[in-house]
Amino acid sequence: MGQAEWAHDLAKDLLETTLPRRWAHTQGVAARAVSLAPILGDEADTLTAAAYLHDIGYAPSLVATGFHPLDGARYLRDVYRADDTLCRLVAHHSCAVNEALERSLFAELTTEFDEERPELVEALTYCDMTTGPDGTPLTATERLAEIHSRYGPEHLVSRSITASTPCILAAVRSVEAALSARA
Ligand SMILES: [Fe+2]
Repeated sequence: MGQAEWAHDLAKDLLETTLPRRWAHTQGVAARAVSLAPILGDEADTLTAAAYLHDIGYAPSLVATGFHPLDGARYLRDVYRADDTLCRLVAHHSCAVNEALERSLFAELTTEFDEERPELVEALTYCDMTTGPDGTPLTATERLAEIHSRYGPEHLVSRSITASTPCILAAVRSVEAALSARA
């Protein structure tokens, strides 16, 4: 079984029943990852696996700190002894360090999980930030606006997304440039 197939089954078990909308989003993010095969080659399977796993930290059965990148990455590391690359991608997806700062979990996140290579980190951020909460494709600008309207201006997630916006947009631009160079 490839990593993506294993990750699909695990994420489905954790999200489909308890968080169906999050599962729909997850499947959309994974579809985006598959679409990046022309620029990722052999690493498309790893990226697709990370796409399936990136939000498992929201699953009620594994919430610990309430910071989903860290809860998801720790679960993969501690329960499944998952591949380091997958754990790192989940831990740092979509510029998570900014929300870690807001939650006073920066030291935990960055000492437990190193950054993965930029091309993979940016690819996962692109997939997440160009997919809406129900799995439909969006532009990054639409996605950022959607997050702000869902959480409201005072919410920690909105503040974190504001801090992450330059990092998110740079990732999206980098992937789009790689895609158009291949077209
Ligand atoms: Fe996501």
